[in-house]
Amino acid sequence: MDLETFAPGSGRLEPRAALRSDAPALDLGGLWRFRLSPVADAPDDFARPGFDDSAWDELRVPAHWPLHGHGAPAYTNVSYPFPVDPPHVPDENPTGDYRRAFDLPDGWRGGRLRFDGVDSFARVWLNGHELGFSTGSRLPVEFDAGPWLRPGRNVLAVRVHQWSAASYLEDQDMWWLPGIFRDVTLTRSAADVFVHAAHDGRLSFEAAEGLLSIPELGVRDLAPGVEITVEAEPWTAETPRLYEAVLTTPHETARLRVGFRTVSVEDGVLLANGRPLLLKGVNRHEFHPDHGRAVPYETMREDVLLMKRHNVNAVRTSHYPPHPAFLDLCDELGLWVVDECDLETHGFGQVGWRGNPTDDPRWADALLDRMRRMVERDKNHPSVIMWSLGNEAGVGRNLAVMAGWTRERDPSRPLHYEGDWSCAHTDVYSRMYATHAEVEAIGRGEEDPLDDPALDARRRAMPFLQCEYAHAMGNGPGGLAEYQELFERFPRLAGGFVWEWIDHGLTDPRHEYAYGGDYGESVHDGNFVIDGLVFPDRTPSPGLLDLKKVFEPVRFEFGEGVVRVVNRHDFRDLAHLAFEAVVEDDGLEGARFPLAVPPSGGEVQLPALPPPPDGAGERWLTVRATLTGDQPWAAAGHELAWSQTRLPSPALPAAAGAGVRPQTSGGRLRLGGGEFDPRTGRLLRLFGLDVEGPRLDLYRAPTDNDRYGGLDRKWRQLGLHRLTHRVAGIETGDGITVRTRVAPAATDLGMRVTWTWTATSGSLNLSVDVEPEGEWPAPIPRLGLHLLLPGELGHVTWFGRGPGEAYPDTGMAARVGRWHAAIDDLQTPYVRPQENGHRADVRWAEFGGTGPGGFRVHGDPMFGLTARRWSTAELTAARHRPDLVPGDHVHLHLDLAHQGIGTATCGPGALPRYDLRPARATLRLRFTPA
Ligand code: GAL
Repeated sequence: MDLETFAPGSGRLEPRAALRSDAPALDLGGLWRFRLSPVADAPDDFARPGFDDSAWDELRVPAHWPLHGHGAPAYTNVSYPFPVDPPHVPDENPTGDYRRAFDLPDGWRGGRLRFDGVDSFARVWLNGHELGFSTGSRLPVEFDAGPWLRPGRNVLAVRVHQWSAASYLEDQDMWWLPGIFRDVTLTRSAADVFVHAAHDGRLSFEAAEGLLSIPELGVRDLAPGVEITVEAEPWTAETPRLYEAVLTTPHETARLRVGFRTVSVEDGVLLANGRPLLLKGVNRHEFHPDHGRAVPYETMREDVLLMKRHNVNAVRTSHYPPHPAFLDLCDELGLWVVDECDLETHGFGQVGWRGNPTDDPRWADALLDRMRRMVERDKNHPSVIMWSLGNEAGVGRNLAVMAGWTRERDPSRPLHYEGDWSCAHTDVYSRMYATHAEVEAIGRGEEDPLDDPALDARRRAMPFLQCEYAHAMGNGPGGLAEYQELFERFPRLAGGFVWEWIDHGLTDPRHEYAYGGDYGESVHDGNFVIDGLVFPDRTPSPGLLDLKKVFEPVRFEFGEGVVRVVNRHDFRDLAHLAFEAVVEDDGLEGARFPLAVPPSGGEVQLPALPPPPDGAGERWLTVRATLTGDQPWAAAGHELAWSQTRLPSPALPAAAGAGVRPQTSGGRLRLGGGEFDPRTGRLLRLFGLDVEGPRLDLYRAPTDNDRYGGLDRKWRQLGLHRLTHRVAGIETGDGITVRTRVAPAATDLGMRVTWTWTATSGSLNLSVDVEPEGEWPAPIPRLGLHLLLPGELGHVTWFGRGPGEAYPDTGMAARVGRWHAAIDDLQTPYVRPQENGHRADVRWAEFGGTGPGGFRVHGDPMFGLTARRWSTAELTAARHRPDLVPGDHVHLHLDLAHQGIGTATCGPGALPRYDLRPARATLRLRFTPA
């Protein structure tokens, strides 16, 4: 049957541009009748207009049926969820039958039925007549409805199969979600146009009929094929200047927005409008936790706004053309777009690429069809600067077919494809997850040569981009700043796109958000689908906040009494920004003043500052760049960039008070505000609060990067999650000295730890000296202390970096200041629980509750702070957030160091400089009552 045909469709009209036309149109979205069958060959008598569908369910269009009670979603990354047996598909083939009656307005004649997206194989009948079938889930298709439309009532019937031969072309890493998931329209528009508008004002267009006008530019009734030059402001993502254009044909008036811009490659550098272009990008899948890829317009808009507000300037539409409205938003609000074809055959990689459609001529039409439908639909968007042939589809002759047609149809845009490193069919050299070292080598033009000298020479002349890097799965990604530094250093490097924008967690009552395996799939890839910069509800993750910092379009450099402001926009100056400086002493504001920065940037003198208050502690200067006025993507006052520097301030006097010696009473050792167990030397009470600890802690609940990168396996082999503690001796004198040896079972590796407690009348001091014994084979997750506090200590105020989490190679967004949070709000809600919430470089932290009790811990000089209502073991065991149940205590971690985060789920682990290698170390703390 033609489910297993290589042909992409039948009965379809030629693809054309997405346009806004005044021709009449009927939106056929809304409630349809729906029936799901487990197999493909249920009777198709339902297509008859008189068929009685009253017993069927109702299903909204657009939507995916598994998200509305019919069947279930399923997630795989690379694997096909069916045998690799092209072009055949399983007999078990969920098939959705759709019916909808609609009334034609009086006098209506002719028209096209347009489907903007049906996943995956659709056969369409109008009034019982079969119009044809189509594949290509994320691509539009039109059928001529004219001959079969009748006055008054009409009946449209669609049969949608989840699996067909075309499923082999749609192996993207995402949920398998069948259904009519984009709009369905009956339209009388038939116009098509291809506008060419260059940044130097050259303007022309192609169309079978019609005249083009751009009233704002004085262009009236331009004929197709005639080139004129106008005075237009160029379009860039920073300055998305659009002009309303009107195409008038004898039958309709169609509108589109034109942006004048040029993309080119010169001397191996990617240029926009003749200037180097640095892509600060993200990969965006279409996703909504309730609606899957049937993304509401407001959500698309929210994506673009969030990207803009986080200094993102580019998006790769991984791995298929998005809803057409998304590209309108990119034109309007300003994002550079790599538009990617709906093609991925990654699962063939698991069978040695045998039978890969990319290299099989029988599939050539289907692949070309996909490319044509994308290019024709999206060709007028100034935001689209590159066409991508697809993702992870291996290599083969059909790439040449796709590229050949595209070059002829649209020579104005470079071609992208990552799957063929020879770059035989592309204009840019693109890779994913290359290490920093390799990116640097490519930046220098020192990459490993290709075997074919001609291809090698061609590739060496290409700009380089990372279409995917920094895998934002769970806690992380680490290494962002180091990538950006390389992208900015070498002109050949055009930047890249972080993988990926959003966690694809589906709303689920049991799990809060579901991932692979939660629907009982027999083949699945777990939480690999949870790897975004925003959580499923689009709350920015710490990774996105870091990315915003790394992508800042303004840089500050501090000197003696001056700050140098550097404009890092590609196309605009700083005139739209206001600058100010804030001085804080121990985190409390002491002064605030505007900075007069010239539009081109430069050195600015700082005014004389008021002297710091007595005994105030550290003094910090923060400078900020904010929007002076509202922009379409953010309100006035929105902060784009900031930086900090520490200013000189008088040293704090050493903690005062006479020395205190330990005493024994009531079976306890007492020192300062502390009460200790005389046998174990362990602290039991602190300033009247029941506490327990501190103990040495070397383990953390593994991050996704720790797990997938293999570090956690080593840590568990070592036994770092099951340390034992032996007291080797306790001495009292001026203070209390406790010697312990901390080690896991079954090894002679261990840590000698000396705990030295001293006190003055006002404080209890602790010095922890750690000395590793033996040859430690790997970096360790953390080096710190664990302490149990009473649960009522629910709040913490700290002076250090915040407000969010930070690890050695993350946390660029965390600035020095005085912060306050409830313990419950210190947790970062990663969909799959893991280490999170560490606050870095803390000088002091004060814990309190609703009652009077509390204490402050001071670092000498600093410590890392984590506090949560569950243990590391509970955090490790949790699979979903509801598995985490608050206990009676607060688990306080005071760390000297953490292992870096890296991005080993895909890509390199932490850079060596962020490895935590066991070595002698000392952590000094001082406790005072609050
Ligand atoms: C890439 C792929 C993406 C995604 C990522 C891992 O290889 O292109 O679609 O699977 O790996 O999250």
